[in-house]
Amino acid sequence: MPPPENKPVVDRTPFTLKVYQALAAALDMNGTRKIILSDTGNFPTDLYMAEGLIATLGRGHQLRLVAPEEIEAALSEEIAVLYITEVDYRTGRRHDMAKLTAKAHALGIVTVWDLAHSAGALPVDLAGSGADFAAGCTYKYLNAGPGAPAFLYVAPRHADSVRAALSGWMGHAKPFAFELAYAAAGGVERMRVGTPPVLAMAALEASLDIWDRVDIREVRARSLALGDLLISEVERRCPSLKLVTPRAHESRGSQVSFAFDGGYAAMQALIARGVIGDFRAPDIMRLGLAPAYLSYAEIWDAAEILKECVRGEVWREPRYRLRHAVT
Ligand SMILES: Cc1ncc(COP(=O)(O)O)c(C=O)c1O
Repeated sequence: MPPPENKPVVDRTPFTLKVYQALAAALDMNGTRKIILSDTGNFPTDLYMAEGLIATLGRGHQLRLVAPEEIEAALSEEIAVLYITEVDYRTGRRHDMAKLTAKAHALGIVTVWDLAHSAGALPVDLAGSGADFAAGCTYKYLNAGPGAPAFLYVAPRHADSVRAALSGWMGHAKPFAFELAYAAAGGVERMRVGTPPVLAMAALEASLDIWDRVDIREVRARSLALGDLLISEVERRCPSLKLVTPRAHESRGSQVSFAFDGGYAAMQALIARGVIGDFRAPDIMRLGLAPAYLSYAEIWDAAEILKECVRGEVWREPRYRLRHAVT
């Protein structure tokens, strides 16, 4: 467990609002610079929130997007905030947080990390890498259930001075004094917004209990072994699927993704057979590996079922092409 001063704040707001809080505070800290640097592998909500924040601030900020592999070279003294997702939601490609944060800081850039596909999947050393802000979900690899609350991390060195853009009553220094004027709570508590959803918090607490007994390094080792097995078994059976996840362990998260033209329909066929992955446009079939409860035998079975769906041409059946709102 991290030391208490490094604990993130968890409240009712979804990740999307947490990242807004983080980016607003980060821009505030770097008042004279105007460029937010992100990459095309960032999750759309992060980018949309940046666009909205830029419009609200009206101070001429710009969102600059480069390819993920170009992000390091794009760091310069012009950049206010480096704003990226550690593990790419589509490909599973992982950025080197320590290296990028160090380079960013050397150039006076504040960092905001999206940990949606990192938390619970791999060791994340926010304190060691010196990251300034981070936000993440608990409903993915932390297994806290659909819609579970998000978290926000503010480096302890900033926590007493950052400005909360969403200055809700739960982030007030004395919420139950019901004062008419806002006064920020001390530390990261100021980033709370409103009343927490107690039922969802209870589910989150139950999932976090498990994490107290688990060593994240063991989780990571198992995740990588499951990923290696999935890659080799799928590549052996389905040569038409193109692996888009890096093979190198240090360069990937806990998912394995394949590009395939019929990816949407093939994923629907897989789901109908009990293998639950998802499809990410334009052509990515994503299989997230939750090492806490997934077995090697299930990986083997999933590869067999995938073969049936792809090589057996099951995916061509019209019923699997019907587009659902959630993919
Ligand atoms: C990388 C990443 N960031 C952010 C989000 C969005 O978070 P939320 O819908 O909880 O606000 C997701 C959702 O899948 C994601 O994958």
